[in-house]
Amino acid sequence: MNATPLLSGRGLRKHYPMGSEPVQALRGVDIDIFAGDLLALRGPSGSGKTTLINLLGLLDRPDSGTLLLDGRNTATLSEDERADTRRDRFGFIFQTFNLIPVLTAAENIGYPMLLNHVTRAEMMERARELLAAVGLAEKENTRPDLLSGGQRQRVAIARALANRPAVIFADEPTANLDSHTADAILDLLQRLNREQQVAVVISTHDPRVVERCTRVLTLHDGEIVTEPTA
Ligand SMILES: Nc1ncnc2c1ncn2[C@@H]1O[C@H](COP(=O)(O)OP(=O)(O)O)[C@@H](O)[C@H]1O
Ligand SMILES: [Mg+2]
Repeated sequence: MNATPLLSGRGLRKHYPMGSEPVQALRGVDIDIFAGDLLALRGPSGSGKTTLINLLGLLDRPDSGTLLLDGRNTATLSEDERADTRRDRFGFIFQTFNLIPVLTAAENIGYPMLLNHVTRAEMMERARELLAAVGLAEKENTRPDLLSGGQRQRVAIARALANRPAVIFADEPTANLDSHTADAILDLLQRLNREQQVAVVISTHDPRVVERCTRVLTLHDGEIVTEPTA
Protein backbone atom coordinates (compact mmCIF):
# COMPACT_ATOMS: atom_id res chain seq x y z
CA MET A 1 0.00 0.00 0.00
CA ASN A 2 3.03 2.26 0.40
CA ALA A 3 3.98 4.39 -2.59
CA THR A 4 7.54 4.75 -3.88
CA PRO A 5 9.76 5.93 -1.03
CA LEU A 6 10.95 9.52 -1.23
CA LEU A 7 14.39 8.23 -0.38
CA SER A 8 15.59 4.67 -0.61
CA GLY A 9 19.09 3.67 0.48
CA ARG A 10 20.52 0.19 -0.05
CA GLY A 11 23.85 -1.10 1.17
CA LEU A 12 25.08 2.35 2.16
CA ARG A 13 28.68 2.25 3.32
CA LYS A 14 30.90 5.08 4.48
CA HIS A 15 34.32 5.19 6.05
CA TYR A 16 36.49 8.04 7.26
CA PRO A 17 40.27 7.85 6.82
CA MET A 18 41.87 7.85 10.28
CA GLY A 19 45.58 7.09 10.14
CA SER A 20 46.20 3.43 9.45
CA GLU A 21 42.79 2.29 10.79
CA PRO A 22 39.90 3.87 8.85
CA VAL A 23 36.68 4.31 10.79
CA GLN A 24 33.82 2.28 9.29
CA ALA A 25 31.00 4.70 10.06
CA LEU A 26 28.29 2.88 8.05
CA ARG A 27 28.60 -0.80 7.16
CA GLY A 28 25.78 -1.40 4.70
CA VAL A 29 22.60 0.40 5.71
CA ASP A 30 19.21 -0.15 4.05
CA ILE A 31 16.67 2.59 4.71
CA ASP A 32 13.45 3.90 3.15
CA ILE A 33 11.87 7.24 3.92
CA PHE A 34 8.26 7.73 2.92
CA ALA A 35 6.14 10.85 2.53
CA GLY A 36 4.68 11.75 5.91
CA ASP A 37 7.19 9.73 7.93
CA LEU A 38 8.11 10.79 11.43
CA LEU A 39 11.17 8.62 11.76
CA ALA A 40 13.59 8.35 14.67
CA LEU A 41 17.19 7.35 13.95
CA ARG A 42 18.23 6.09 17.31
CA GLY A 43 21.68 5.03 18.41
CA PRO A 44 24.49 5.81 20.81
CA SER A 45 27.09 8.47 20.08
CA GLY A 46 29.35 7.26 17.27
CA SER A 47 26.83 4.79 15.84
CA GLY A 48 26.63 6.62 12.50
CA LYS A 49 23.49 8.79 12.79
CA THR A 50 25.06 12.00 11.52
CA THR A 51 26.89 10.16 8.76
CA LEU A 52 23.62 8.59 7.60
CA ILE A 53 21.76 11.93 7.68
CA ASN A 54 24.58 13.50 5.68
CA LEU A 55 24.26 10.78 3.02
CA LEU A 56 20.45 10.91 2.89
CA GLY A 57 20.49 14.71 2.75
CA LEU A 58 23.02 14.68 -0.13
CA LEU A 59 25.55 16.53 2.02
CA ASP A 60 28.02 13.69 1.53
CA ARG A 61 28.41 10.68 -0.78
CA PRO A 62 28.52 7.00 0.19
CA ASP A 63 31.59 4.87 -0.61
CA SER A 64 29.20 2.30 -2.04
CA GLY A 65 25.54 1.43 -2.08
CA THR A 66 22.71 3.20 -3.87
CA LEU A 67 20.49 6.08 -2.87
CA LEU A 68 17.32 6.74 -4.85
CA LEU A 69 15.37 9.99 -4.59
CA ASP A 70 11.85 9.63 -6.02
CA GLY A 71 13.08 6.42 -7.60
CA ARG A 72 15.98 8.15 -9.35
CA ASN A 73 19.59 7.22 -8.64
CA THR A 74 21.27 10.16 -6.91
CA ALA A 75 24.70 9.00 -8.11
CA THR A 76 23.89 10.54 -11.49
CA LEU A 77 23.36 14.05 -10.03
CA SER A 78 26.03 16.72 -10.57
CA GLU A 79 27.23 18.83 -7.62
CA ASP A 80 24.91 21.64 -8.78
CA GLU A 81 21.94 19.30 -9.00
CA ARG A 82 22.74 17.97 -5.52
CA ALA A 83 22.82 21.54 -4.17
CA ASP A 84 19.53 22.36 -5.92
CA THR A 85 17.97 19.21 -4.48
CA ARG A 86 19.11 20.06 -0.95
CA ARG A 87 17.70 23.57 -1.27
CA ASP A 88 14.39 22.62 -2.91
CA ARG A 89 13.52 19.25 -1.36
CA PHE A 90 15.21 19.14 2.05
CA GLY A 91 15.36 21.19 5.23
CA PHE A 92 18.08 20.76 7.85
CA ILE A 93 17.98 21.35 11.59
CA PHE A 94 21.11 21.00 13.69
CA GLN A 95 21.90 20.59 17.36
CA THR A 96 23.66 23.97 17.37
CA PHE A 97 20.89 25.84 15.46
CA ASN A 98 23.37 27.32 12.92
CA LEU A 99 21.68 30.67 12.51
CA ILE A 100 23.46 33.65 10.94
CA PRO A 101 24.18 36.05 13.83
CA VAL A 102 24.00 39.32 11.87
CA LEU A 103 20.57 38.55 10.35
CA THR A 104 17.20 39.00 12.06
CA ALA A 105 14.95 36.00 12.68
CA ALA A 106 12.93 36.83 9.55
CA GLU A 107 16.06 37.25 7.44
CA ASN A 108 17.50 33.96 8.66
CA ILE A 109 14.32 32.26 7.52
CA GLY A 110 14.13 34.14 4.24
CA TYR A 111 17.72 33.60 3.22
CA PRO A 112 17.16 30.20 1.50
CA MET A 113 14.24 31.74 -0.42
CA LEU A 114 16.39 34.54 -1.84
CA LEU A 115 18.50 31.83 -3.45
CA ASN A 116 15.30 30.78 -5.24
CA HIS A 117 14.85 34.22 -6.87
CA VAL A 118 12.02 35.29 -4.59
CA THR A 119 11.64 39.08 -4.06
CA ARG A 120 12.43 40.57 -0.66
CA ALA A 121 8.75 41.46 -0.12
CA GLU A 122 7.67 37.89 -0.88
CA MET A 123 10.45 36.60 1.32
CA MET A 124 9.35 38.74 4.28
CA GLU A 125 5.74 37.70 3.85
CA ARG A 126 6.63 34.01 3.87
CA ALA A 127 9.08 34.50 6.75
CA ARG A 128 6.30 36.15 8.83
CA GLU A 129 3.94 33.29 8.02
CA LEU A 130 6.60 30.76 9.09
CA LEU A 131 7.45 32.68 12.26
CA ALA A 132 3.76 32.62 13.15
CA ALA A 133 3.66 28.88 12.46
CA VAL A 134 6.48 28.28 14.97
CA GLY A 135 4.97 30.67 17.54
CA LEU A 136 7.47 33.52 17.16
CA ALA A 137 5.47 36.15 15.26
CA GLU A 138 6.72 38.94 17.52
CA LYS A 139 10.42 38.10 16.99
CA GLU A 140 10.60 39.00 13.33
CA ASN A 141 13.24 41.72 13.79
CA THR A 142 15.18 40.06 16.61
CA ARG A 143 18.71 38.75 16.09
CA PRO A 144 19.60 35.25 17.30
CA ASP A 145 21.78 36.44 20.21
CA LEU A 146 18.66 37.92 21.85
CA LEU A 147 16.69 34.67 21.53
CA SER A 148 16.65 31.71 23.93
CA GLY A 149 17.87 28.30 22.79
CA GLY A 150 14.32 27.10 22.20
CA GLN A 151 13.47 30.22 20.22
CA ARG A 152 16.62 29.82 18.11
CA GLN A 153 15.65 26.25 17.31
CA ARG A 154 12.16 27.46 16.31
CA VAL A 155 13.75 29.93 13.91
CA ALA A 156 15.90 27.10 12.53
CA ILE A 157 12.77 24.97 12.06
CA ALA A 158 10.99 27.83 10.28
CA ARG A 159 14.04 28.23 8.04
CA ALA A 160 14.02 24.51 7.27
CA LEU A 161 10.40 24.86 6.13
CA ALA A 162 11.02 27.90 3.94
CA ASN A 163 11.12 26.14 0.57
CA ARG A 164 8.35 23.66 1.46
CA PRO A 165 10.66 20.65 1.68
CA ALA A 166 9.62 17.04 1.28
CA VAL A 167 11.94 15.97 4.10
CA ILE A 168 13.34 17.69 7.18
CA PHE A 169 16.49 16.16 8.63
CA ALA A 170 16.92 17.05 12.29
CA ASP A 171 20.26 15.93 13.72
CA GLU A 172 19.83 15.75 17.52
CA PRO A 173 17.65 18.86 17.48
CA THR A 174 16.97 18.83 21.21
CA ALA A 175 20.43 17.92 22.49
CA ASN A 176 21.22 21.49 23.61
CA LEU A 177 17.80 22.22 25.11
CA ASP A 178 16.35 21.66 28.57
CA SER A 179 13.66 18.98 28.73
CA HIS A 180 10.73 21.40 28.83
CA THR A 181 11.98 23.31 25.79
CA ALA A 182 12.85 20.05 24.05
CA ASP A 183 9.25 18.86 24.51
CA ALA A 184 7.93 22.07 22.94
CA ILE A 185 10.27 21.64 19.96
CA LEU A 186 9.11 18.05 19.53
CA ASP A 187 5.46 19.16 19.71
CA LEU A 188 6.22 21.60 16.94
CA LEU A 189 7.99 19.05 14.72
CA GLN A 190 5.15 16.58 15.28
CA ARG A 191 2.54 19.19 14.36
CA LEU A 192 4.42 20.31 11.24
CA ASN A 193 4.78 16.69 10.19
CA ARG A 194 1.03 16.23 10.45
CA GLU A 195 -0.15 19.56 9.09
CA GLN A 196 2.40 20.24 6.37
CA GLN A 197 2.91 16.66 5.17
CA VAL A 198 6.65 16.99 5.54
CA ALA A 199 8.59 13.84 6.36
CA VAL A 200 10.77 14.35 9.46
CA VAL A 201 13.87 12.29 10.20
CA ILE A 202 15.21 12.90 13.71
CA SER A 203 18.49 11.49 14.98
CA THR A 204 18.58 11.15 18.72
CA HIS A 205 19.59 9.10 21.70
CA ASP A 206 16.75 10.53 23.76
CA PRO A 207 13.98 7.95 24.46
CA ARG A 208 11.41 10.77 24.71
CA VAL A 209 12.08 11.68 21.09
CA VAL A 210 11.76 8.06 20.03
CA GLU A 211 8.35 7.78 21.76
CA ARG A 212 6.98 10.58 19.60
CA CYS A 213 7.98 9.02 16.29
CA THR A 214 5.89 6.67 14.19
CA ARG A 215 8.90 4.63 13.00
CA VAL A 216 12.19 3.86 14.65
CA LEU A 217 15.47 2.64 13.19
CA THR A 218 18.26 1.76 15.57
CA LEU A 219 21.89 2.11 14.53
CA HIS A 220 24.70 0.32 16.27
CA ASP A 221 28.31 0.52 15.05
CA GLY A 222 27.17 1.61 11.61
CA GLU A 223 24.49 -1.04 11.15
CA ILE A 224 20.73 -1.00 11.54
CA VAL A 225 19.87 -3.52 14.20
CA THR A 226 16.07 -3.40 14.42
CA GLU A 227 13.15 -2.01 12.53
CA PRO A 228 9.99 -2.33 14.59
CA THR A 229 6.91 -1.64 12.50
CA ALA A 230 4.74 1.33 13.38
N1 LIG B 1 34.92 13.59 9.90
C1 LIG B 1 35.21 12.45 10.52
N2 LIG B 1 36.47 11.95 10.54
C2 LIG B 1 36.76 10.80 11.16
N3 LIG B 1 35.86 10.04 11.79
C3 LIG B 1 34.59 10.47 11.82
C4 LIG B 1 34.19 11.68 11.19
N4 LIG B 1 32.85 11.86 11.38
C5 LIG B 1 32.46 10.79 12.10
N5 LIG B 1 33.48 9.96 12.37
C6 LIG B 1 33.40 8.66 13.08
O1 LIG B 1 32.43 7.88 12.42
C7 LIG B 1 31.64 7.18 13.37
C8 LIG B 1 30.18 7.58 13.22
O2 LIG B 1 30.08 8.96 13.58
P1 LIG B 1 28.71 9.77 13.49
O3 LIG B 1 28.06 9.52 12.20
O4 LIG B 1 29.06 11.18 13.82
O5 LIG B 1 27.86 9.10 14.65
P2 LIG B 1 26.70 9.70 15.57
O6 LIG B 1 26.10 10.86 14.85
O7 LIG B 1 25.76 8.55 15.78
O8 LIG B 1 27.35 10.11 16.85
C9 LIG B 1 32.25 7.50 14.73
O9 LIG B 1 33.18 6.48 15.04
C10 LIG B 1 32.93 8.82 14.49
O10 LIG B 1 34.01 8.98 15.38
MG1 LIG C 1 25.80 12.83 15.43
